Amino acid sequence: MTVRVLGCQRDQFSLPDGLHYLNCAYMGPLPRVAEAAGVAGVRKKAVPTAILPEDFFGESNALRGLFAGLIGVDDPQRIAIHPGASYGIATAARNLPVSAGDNLVLTHEQFPGNVYAWRRKAAEFGATVRMVGPPENALEGRGRLWNERLLDAIDARTAVVAVPHVHWTDGTRFDLRAIGERCRAVGTALVVDATQSVGALPFDVSAVRPDALVCAAYKWLLGPYALALAYFSERFDDGTPLEETWIGRKDSDDFPRLVDYQDEYQPGAIRYDCAERSNFALVPIAVAALRLITEWTPSGIQEYCRALTADMLPRVKEMGFFVEDTEWRGHNLFGVRAPDGVDMSRLRTELDARNVSASLRGSALRLSPNVYNDGADIDALVDALRSVQRSGRGASA
Ligand SMILES: Cc1ncc(COP(=O)(O)O)c(C=O)c1O
Repeated sequence: MTVRVLGCQRDQFSLPDGLHYLNCAYMGPLPRVAEAAGVAGVRKKAVPTAILPEDFFGESNALRGLFAGLIGVDDPQRIAIHPGASYGIATAARNLPVSAGDNLVLTHEQFPGNVYAWRRKAAEFGATVRMVGPPENALEGRGRLWNERLLDAIDARTAVVAVPHVHWTDGTRFDLRAIGERCRAVGTALVVDATQSVGALPFDVSAVRPDALVCAAYKWLLGPYALALAYFSERFDDGTPLEETWIGRKDSDDFPRLVDYQDEYQPGAIRYDCAERSNFALVPIAVAALRLITEWTPSGIQEYCRALTADMLPRVKEMGFFVEDTEWRGHNLFGVRAPDGVDMSRLRTELDARNVSASLRGSALRLSPNVYNDGADIDALVDALRSVQRSGRGASA
């Protein structure tokens, strides 16, 4: 497969000059075309005759199709539209069977939206939750060992493995293909939170074969807040949705006959759509953003981030900071861990002074670049790291 070579796409965004935005893992900026689509959607609502019955279906279906294409799913009806990633997780938790004595496997410090529904499920059915962590105090081989521990934790009593594709705090990548194989070998359901990867990191449902996958749109899909997309496999085809929406039922496009109540749902995963899923402002924003990402391709975006950060990494490592092996992280999201003696709280001040936006997590700085970043952003970051490294040396000298 040839990877698309992308140039910097900053002119497609409204990011102000001088802002070094390395924080897509916090929130992706809207591309200009998505902004315009949202404004047009809001305006439609000012004159309701502009909203036609087909608007309840056409854009939603376009959104399903684009997301399905991004994750290697042939049938767009396998995609449900939700208000957040937690909603898809709750839908999966409601429908997957768990019995007394079972265990549920999660990762250590997983994003809470993929934890609470499982804790409730475990408590209700007498199961236990296993939060599998990386080796303590060992940085070298951390990603590899964490993956090994995760595979070891899955056994014949594991009812559900609910894991991210990459860890939200430091980008550690989980080998979902191997985890999927292990799950199938022991008959366990696999639920993936791909919020921190899909859009910027290639994902292939046909290779991983998860039972469900959720993805909030406001990070790497460069979409709106309060919208998420979820894939559900055939396993969920007879399941119970969280809400009984009119639009999720058979023939819901036949407005005059909506009170001919239907027992049947729409096909595939559409039954799991949330109420008012056709949101006339948010859905067009997401469609416009996904069209751009589809054009750029996740592998093109990943390669852009690789090339952008390639020469920064040796410089950062020389200063004594630790970065995970490329095999166990994405190029779009990774942690930079400080050597002993570096005052990370000072780093916040140094980053702010240079207008660099990135999140601090304990002893790590989380970097999450995207196609709007360029060499000036990286230089500003390296400069901030160098200044705290110097202060660290001074302090310990
Ligand atoms: C891994 C992950 N999942 C999900 C979310 C968001 O969840 P929700 O859409 O339910 O607010 C985040 C937000 O930071 C995240 O990092």
